[in-house]
Amino acid sequence: MAGGPGETVLVTGANGQIGTELVLALQERYGTDSVIASDLCEPSDLQGPFEICDVLDRGRLEEIVDDHGVTIIYHLAALLSATGEKNPELCERVNIGGLANVLELAKERGCRVYSPSSIAVFGPDCPKRAMQDSPLNPTTTYGATKVTGEDMAKYYWDAHGVDVRGIRYPGLISWKAPPGGGTTDYAVEVFHHALNYGSYTCFVRSETVLPMMYMDDAIRATLELMDAPSDSLGPSRACYNLAGFSFAAGELVAAIGERVEGFECTFKPDVRQKYADSWPNEIDDTVARDDWNWKPEFSMEEMVDEMLANLS
Ligand code: NAD
Ligand code: SER
Repeated sequence: MAGGPGETVLVTGANGQIGTELVLALQERYGTDSVIASDLCEPSDLQGPFEICDVLDRGRLEEIVDDHGVTIIYHLAALLSATGEKNPELCERVNIGGLANVLELAKERGCRVYSPSSIAVFGPDCPKRAMQDSPLNPTTTYGATKVTGEDMAKYYWDAHGVDVRGIRYPGLISWKAPPGGGTTDYAVEVFHHALNYGSYTCFVRSETVLPMMYMDDAIRATLELMDAPSDSLGPSRACYNLAGFSFAAGELVAAIGERVEGFECTFKPDVRQKYADSWPNEIDDTVARDDWNWKPEFSMEEMVDEMLANLS
């Protein structure tokens, strides 16, 4: 196992969809006081240390790492696809510039780093089932920043020995915190609308199939990858494909309809349809399974039951 109690962990972008849950999981493992959550503004309810930190402020990052003796950085601060395409310049600055600051600091201070990537690294020329080594030609700025991020992580490992690991997360479905402006947000919004209003207008077509994962599996995968012995990880150490399940938006709506009486959904695609259409339908995660024994636990049906039980 790489790392354990005795570590001090910094989480950037900790108020987001993943950070909200990852901080809790890390606190359980390392102790509440050893997990430093950080973001652009104070969270509403967090037990444990918190620091305001814009990842573009290199000096502030340095101060936090030095003050707390940080040994591992989970770098989650980013702009997601829908928000990123509205402001591509800021998306590039935060997603690439923020990571550059984290990697340089990690090199100087000897920190390990977790830096997530995304299925958005793939583009229209990718096969419907994306393999680990399928071509990376994204048509979104967000996807391009993630490809650059993977390259940067690889460079810091190859050239400087900085232990950077990462996963190409599918669309993540969760109930504790809202999603932060991605294309896959419909798969979370639909639950809230079904329970609160009995109806939803979905912004992608019914037949749109995307790779998705329940948050519990994503958090477990993140911790398992960070726990894996370094020498078990191959060249994909910072960009592992990861699969949970894939479904068409209409299939998710039908599964919710079977459980929420009277639920109705209409489909009104907007610009996010284009981003969804540019991504693969399925992910092949054989390399993650082989390198660090990854295996998902939640099926789509189990995810739907969990989401409805927790949000009801
Ligand atoms: P999110 O949008 O929910 O949270 C991101 C957080 O980063 C927000 O709290 C935001 O305030 C913060 N942030 C933005 N700019 C910042 C800055 N300059 N300095 C500091 N903080 C800043 O995102 P998330 O879903 O939690 O995603 C976390 C990471 O996982 C991102 O790298 C994202 O690309 C990746 N990812 C997420 C998904 C998903 O479905 N949620 C899928 C694939 C990859
Ligand atoms: N879920 C993310 C998004 O839709 C994919 O990285 O932006």
